[in-house]
Amino acid sequence: MIKIAPSILSANLLKIESEVKIVDKAGADYIHIDIMDGHYVPNITYGPNIVQSLRLITNKILDVHLMINTVDQYINNFIDAGADIISFHPETESDPEKIIKKIKNSRCKCGIAVHPNIKIEDIKKYIHLVDVVLVMTVIPGFGGQKFMQNQLHKISKLNELRTNKNLKFEIEIDGGINKETSKLCIQNGANILVAGSYIYDAPKSQYKDLINSLR
Ligand code: DX5
Ligand code: ZN
Repeated sequence: MIKIAPSILSANLLKIESEVKIVDKAGADYIHIDIMDGHYVPNITYGPNIVQSLRLITNKILDVHLMINTVDQYINNFIDAGADIISFHPETESDPEKIIKKIKNSRCKCGIAVHPNIKIEDIKKYIHLVDVVLVMTVIPGFGGQKFMQNQLHKISKLNELRTNKNLKFEIEIDGGINKETSKLCIQNGANILVAGSYIYDAPKSQYKDLINSLR
């Protein structure tokens, strides 16, 4: 089953409640929340409070993507705020395994996010510990960028590793997802697709069709 995770990064923040409720009703599986700190990435978004607020208006899985340098310092705040999945970039931490354990010891699932400059070789040591590997197909920081085709090999590599090692993690792709690129990701073994601008830059009446087109 292909799961679709609309990213609220491209949503209208003045109307965030209806923006989330519409994709919820339109069949989204997750709500993807991008947390940026102005250090790991050159952009700043929001903190645990947005997770806490969205928790009150949707029962969908809240998929929190941390693009911050100080994961250890804030992880409990995101867990307490009601996140369901927390993904982080392991190169930001001195002891990523400690963070993975912390997340897994809560009721949250844990994901490892792979920056386009990071090789699968470098994160291979974590894949048996996590529920999700989030492959980034744009340089993190902004919505609306072009899908990096040169990252596709990472999806098939992860798919191969998963089979060979008999692991169960899911493969999530984030960045530049549209009707064409989603097909490439699925063909290579991805089953969760994040989409920001593809959905939220369109008129609300099209959200449902756009979500379905990705599957
Ligand atoms: C980028 C974020 C993405 C972003 C994707 O750093 O992690 O989740 O919202 O936006 P699109 O789908 O427009 O590439
Ligand atoms: Zn993201």
